[in-house]
Amino acid sequence: MVVPSGYRPTRFELKNALLGNSRSRTGRALRKLPSKRRICETLAPMGPRRMSLVILVLTTALSSLAAAHYYLAKRLVLDSGLEGGLVPGLSAAIAVLGVGSILQPALERALPAPWFRIVSWPFLVWMGVFWIGLNVLWIAEGLGAMAGWVGLGPVAPGLRAAALWLLIGALAAWGLRGGLGPPRLERVEHTLPRWPGSLAGLRIVQISDVHIGPILGRRFLEDLVARVNALDADLVAITGDLVDGRVDQLQGDVTPLGELRAKHGVYFVTGNHDAYSGDEAWVAHLETLGIRVLRNRRDRIELAAGSFWLAGVDDHRGDWAAGSSEDLPRALEGWDPSEPLVLLAHDPSTFKRAHRRGIHLQLSGHTHGGQIWPFRWLVRLAVPWIEGCHEAGDSRLYVSRGTGFWGPPMRILSPAEITEHTLRAV
Ligand SMILES: [Fe+2]
Repeated sequence: MVVPSGYRPTRFELKNALLGNSRSRTGRALRKLPSKRRICETLAPMGPRRMSLVILVLTTALSSLAAAHYYLAKRLVLDSGLEGGLVPGLSAAIAVLGVGSILQPALERALPAPWFRIVSWPFLVWMGVFWIGLNVLWIAEGLGAMAGWVGLGPVAPGLRAAALWLLIGALAAWGLRGGLGPPRLERVEHTLPRWPGSLAGLRIVQISDVHIGPILGRRFLEDLVARVNALDADLVAITGDLVDGRVDQLQGDVTPLGELRAKHGVYFVTGNHDAYSGDEAWVAHLETLGIRVLRNRRDRIELAAGSFWLAGVDDHRGDWAAGSSEDLPRALEGWDPSEPLVLLAHDPSTFKRAHRRGIHLQLSGHTHGGQIWPFRWLVRLAVPWIEGCHEAGDSRLYVSRGTGFWGPPMRILSPAEITEHTLRAV
């Protein structure tokens, strides 16, 4: 590679060069492959740094979780005025559920069916109860402080703990109803500035973040497929995070996907959870079910009234240990921006790069709309677009809140959705 003076290739560019790809993340041509020696020299110092970062993040996360569990146990059990064996019993239960919810992702992958489901249920429900409990406690502490400022006396500890448990239980039940209920149908009309009038009225039905895995299985998918087929779409787009688990664990559960119907095909792009679940094996399996997978490439969709491009990219964390696997330049290589193009990308963040290339519409998921309020404010730290329609220049983005859920089988103020997109011209 002829490296300009002072220019240091990114890890992505070096990886692509090794694989024989000729373009960088920004589409810049890599004019000559770097020598292997140079790559090793550049990558080698990253190992210990990355390892230290992982250890630091893990230690901080585990310490924070332990501290938060202690806080929850102190306020709801130790300070509750309860006596006898209930206090150590409830404290031990909180500790076991806390440790179990940390180990759950590993158990989910290690255990065969049906054990990975049986073991996951209590820990995933606890994860939701824990999050709701923390938020209820913070709000209660704030209200308690305000009551003190206006001269109101403290509530008796037993009454306070009982009221908090009741409120947390009610919110958890509400969340379970939202998580395990059917997804709602969102109908969205997009008026796209450069979309040709001949293709106006095109309908794409999007499902995203279904997360077939430890909780959701075949029955949920059968119902979902029936709902999608009833919409008689031109295209069906599945925008990633379809599964949490390996093919051998879940292939019976995903069989109903073979019944999905659309006039011009059913398409899929990978999400980060598909990558964690073994994306190569899943892509091969989905193709046996008649689902077309767009991995950094595009298809021309021919309709009677004209044609458009449907492009798709892998999630950018697909190969996170080695760098990015999203390759937008490759997916759009040779595309004339005057031709209409819809991009499928799991993570809305891809829109930062895609809108500069003039795509017409991007369909994404990933955020779950935060799933359990107020988690959306934490998601916002990582992804600028949480749900709904957004625009930059002439390009449009739609972010689905997701059709299933990840982790706790709960949703609060972020309902699951099946999205029917109708594309219109200005
Ligand atoms: Fe997801």
